[in-house]
Amino acid sequence: MTDIDFSQSPTALAPLAGFTDLPFRYICKKFGADVTFSEMISVNALVRDSKKTFRMLKRARNEDRYIAQIAGSDIKNIIKAVEILNDMEDIIGIDLNCGCPVPKIIAQDAGSSLLRDLAHLAKIIKTVKKQSNKRYTSVKTRIGFNEKTPEIIAKTIEEAGADFISIHGRTRSGGYKAPIDYDAIRRAKESVKIPVFANGDITTYEKAVEIRDFTKCEGVMIGRGAVGNPWIFYQLKHNQKNIDKSLIKQVVLEHLQLMREFYADNMGVILFRKHLHAYSKSFPEAAAFRHKINAVSNADEMREEIERFFTEQ
Ligand SMILES: Cc1cc2nc3c(=O)[nH]c(=O)nc-3n(C[C@H](O)[C@H](O)[C@H](O)COP(=O)(O)O)c2cc1C
Repeated sequence: MTDIDFSQSPTALAPLAGFTDLPFRYICKKFGADVTFSEMISVNALVRDSKKTFRMLKRARNEDRYIAQIAGSDIKNIIKAVEILNDMEDIIGIDLNCGCPVPKIIAQDAGSSLLRDLAHLAKIIKTVKKQSNKRYTSVKTRIGFNEKTPEIIAKTIEEAGADFISIHGRTRSGGYKAPIDYDAIRRAKESVKIPVFANGDITTYEKAVEIRDFTKCEGVMIGRGAVGNPWIFYQLKHNQKNIDKSLIKQVVLEHLQLMREFYADNMGVILFRKHLHAYSKSFPEAAAFRHKINAVSNADEMREEIERFFTEQ
């Protein structure tokens, strides 16, 4: 376990429920992602059935700066969840989700709903900071619920004692498609002293560099832009504009193997399909390949299809 070196423009893999499981985080780490986050874990689920959630929280062996992300609102449950996480030596931090827009989470006053009650948000951050035995207490937020108030949100988070912030440059109303407001991220960064990760629609090496320069954020956090494209972390670490895609087949096969090991064989293959869609996206005949692999749930058959498709490219 290592500290995050914010002087070295760190990169982070954003938490993406349904994507950033242990196998994918392992692949992104291999390509140089500095910080990794678990998929969002509901504190209620963690408190209710910690065994099942522990599996979701398992760390890959190469994750040396791995942070568990929690979603919740009820202070008592948050304290219980932090106590459970305190026993997990594999994580260096606890991150609070203040961005999730889905109705089920909003109904629990959690996720982006916390942006409607900043006093309560501050109370949660203070609670996590006080109860946690981890190196980092962090917050992943949007720039507002309906209105854009990035400076106020960032200052509230800082004053409550968080060690760093990750900011997705959309409001809750902006969902996942509204244009990202990088200027709002820049203003949030300007109003605090703690480090900030800029997040949203960073899909290429060039864009990552541009956004880092424009927002003056210490780091960039990449989510969907890393799916099917994990080498973006390698490019950023080594300042490399172009990469040799001839190795893609090996990466895809390794990722499939990790999925087989982590999940039961067929489940691993089925869950791998969406990654395979992303890996094959930019190749000719990708649509036909997608169609074909959607019907494959046998691991050896999937392996053969991958060998065939990526060898022909
Ligand atoms: C499928 C999906 C799942 C997500 N799951 C989470 C999550 O568990 N926790 C979280 O804080 N954000 C989650 N997000 C938001 C992302 O972390 C990120 O803020 C957002 O996608 C914008 O960044 P990107 O354009 O780099 O993906 C999710 C987004 C998507 C599309």
